[in-house]
Amino acid sequence: MRTMLPLLVILVVGLRLAGASPPPQPVACTKGTTDCTVTNVYGSFPDRTICRAADASFPRTEAELVAAVAAAAAAGRKAKAATRHSHSFPKLACPGGRDGTIISTRFLNRTVAFDAAARRITVESGVVLRDLIRAAAAAGLALPHSPYWYGLTVGGLLATGAHGSSLWGKGSAVHEYVVGLRIVTPAPASQGFAVVRELVAGDPDLDAAKVSLGVLGVISQVTFELQPQFKRSVRFVTRDDSDFAEKVAVWGGAHEFGDMAWLPRQGKVIYREDDRVDVATPGNGLNDYLGFRAQPTLGLITARAAEERLERNGTDIARCLAARLPPSLFELQAYGFTNDGVFFTGWPVVGFQHRIQASGTCISSPEDGLLSSCTWDPRIRGPFLYNSGFSIALPRAAAFVADMMRLRDLNPRAFCDIDAKLGILMRYVKASSAYLGKPEDCVDFDVTYYRSYDDGEPRPHSDVFDELEQMALRKYGAVPHWGKNRNFAFDGAAAKYPNSGEFIKVKERYDPDGIFSSEWSDQVLGISGSPNIVDKRCAIEGLCVCSDDSHCAPELGYFCRPGKLFKEARVCSKDKSAAAGDDDLLDEL
Ligand SMILES: Cc1cc2nc3c(=O)[nH]c(=O)nc-3n(C[C@H](O)[C@H](O)[C@H](O)COP(=O)(O)OP(=O)(O)OC[C@H]3O[C@@H](n4cnc5c(N)ncnc54)[C@H](O)[C@@H]3O)c2cc1C
Ligand SMILES: *[C@@H]1O[C@H](CO)[C@@H](O)[C@H](O)[C@H]1NC(C)=O
Ligand SMILES: *[C@@H]1O[C@H](CO)[C@@H](O)[C@H](O)[C@H]1NC(C)=O
Repeated sequence: MRTMLPLLVILVVGLRLAGASPPPQPVACTKGTTDCTVTNVYGSFPDRTICRAADASFPRTEAELVAAVAAAAAAGRKAKAATRHSHSFPKLACPGGRDGTIISTRFLNRTVAFDAAARRITVESGVVLRDLIRAAAAAGLALPHSPYWYGLTVGGLLATGAHGSSLWGKGSAVHEYVVGLRIVTPAPASQGFAVVRELVAGDPDLDAAKVSLGVLGVISQVTFELQPQFKRSVRFVTRDDSDFAEKVAVWGGAHEFGDMAWLPRQGKVIYREDDRVDVATPGNGLNDYLGFRAQPTLGLITARAAEERLERNGTDIARCLAARLPPSLFELQAYGFTNDGVFFTGWPVVGFQHRIQASGTCISSPEDGLLSSCTWDPRIRGPFLYNSGFSIALPRAAAFVADMMRLRDLNPRAFCDIDAKLGILMRYVKASSAYLGKPEDCVDFDVTYYRSYDDGEPRPHSDVFDELEQMALRKYGAVPHWGKNRNFAFDGAAAKYPNSGEFIKVKERYDPDGIFSSEWSDQVLGISGSPNIVDKRCAIEGLCVCSDDSHCAPELGYFCRPGKLFKEARVCSKDKSAAAGDDDLLDEL
């Protein structure tokens, strides 16, 4: 998720905070390390449940990790690696069943080895991306690509195929830079119930382990191949969207780190012109992205309350008016970029890779008793959002963009919530040899929008966002980001990967009893069950695609209807004729 803030920027832009409360732990146990729950950093999975586990362990060494896996395997119990904060939206962090065991990588956070001559770094899997980037920079080296948010762990970001934006070289997915790893898997009793498997470049199993959804075992250490330190020159240019469809096809070729953000209601595209420059180029720029800074708790709560009022009782015009502010404030603040770490004096911003590639100061500041926090901290009733991410093969991306624009043109005001969240972010990812990596060169579309705290509460214009996603997934064969999205996006996901069969074979060899598999991983890998949860209002919650009015909210005038442009879509539409009475009432409110 790139952006987390709707109106709150109005309240807080310009404010600098000394402290920030780091997000809470996703693993909580009532009695020491037993009777535990696990959730994600938002405190809410897409189905609004939290998971249970009988106990948790917190290994500090590889030997302790082996012992933890062996204990689970010997007892035939379900197990799952959990990270410091667990940023994945879907239920990836949950062990199967209700009495499994959680193996936290929280204390597996050391740099193990550094080979400056070979430009290789080996880290434990719980190392936070921020620390990996810093360790590389301290030795004059650079991780060439990464996600934009540096609070993720090495183990978690690899497991979900996380990426930045590039079609150059090996591309933007972090797993492309893995040249070795050590993974602890279950084993027969004769081998002590757990073994460490060491995989090196060229080993076909590495193509399974690099992007594994956590189902092969627990990765202990990862070796990355780095590059010599370099600088980047960044400039954001906003233009109208008349040639947006043509541009999406070529922008990734034109700029090594190029991306694009589309503001559909405003009809504008923010182009990120971002290129590698010689390390001798003057400039010490810094990316401290506004959306990833700590914000005053009070501001977050006030902003959320205002947003809830607008969502529930506001008109399209009021919502669209409010939606104009965040993009202009972000532009005014240069998105959080400065030319020297303090002041923004103009584009381009030139700076070292490690100061530009990712940010996230809300996790780095000292505890301040929740006076301020990351915007998504579940302990406060602040912004609460959905984040969908799906990738479309490059040759089909322009046609998808043209369809998105047609859908927008049918009712531009329906798209204002996307403008308010700073647009749809488009990033480039290259085809990967990883079995669950991107099958083709593609454009990743990242959409963030309002989520209600109330189960089953309809949102204005959710039909348009649902149609957009169904069109991407079905008409354009998009693959969902493993760490984002609501349930329905994963229906049939594994079948879109030509090598998912190879992946399953490695899983059967590494973990034949499925100790590291859960209901969720079996559903998304097409092994058993469906990620859809079909029930009343399931389509409102994104847990299913509706096939019956009861999957929407007929009592409130939301019925299951075909899409407006992509007729095969089935979305919850507010039907004026069918529920006139209720509907008029809702419009008044
Ligand atoms: C603010 C924000 C910004 C983001 N930006 C981006 C972005 O720019 N690009 C992008 O691609 N994604 C982005 N994401 C999504 C992110 O990549 C995924 O959510 C990522 O997987 C989370 O990593 P994590 O360390 O929190 O892992 P978790 O969510 O805790 O874990 C993910 C999976 O990995 C498994 N796992 C973790 N460690 C290990 C291990 N050592 N061995 C085996 N399995 C393991 C877990 O069991 C789980 O199945 C963003 C998310 C947020 C919240
Ligand atoms: C590892 O994590 C622990 C617990 O959060 C922390 O105290 C320690 O400083 C971290 N170590 C490194 C090397 O980052
Ligand atoms: C919406 O308006 C109704 C009626 O005026 C009011 O009771 C309700 O609290 C409002 N909701 C919000 C979120 O402001």
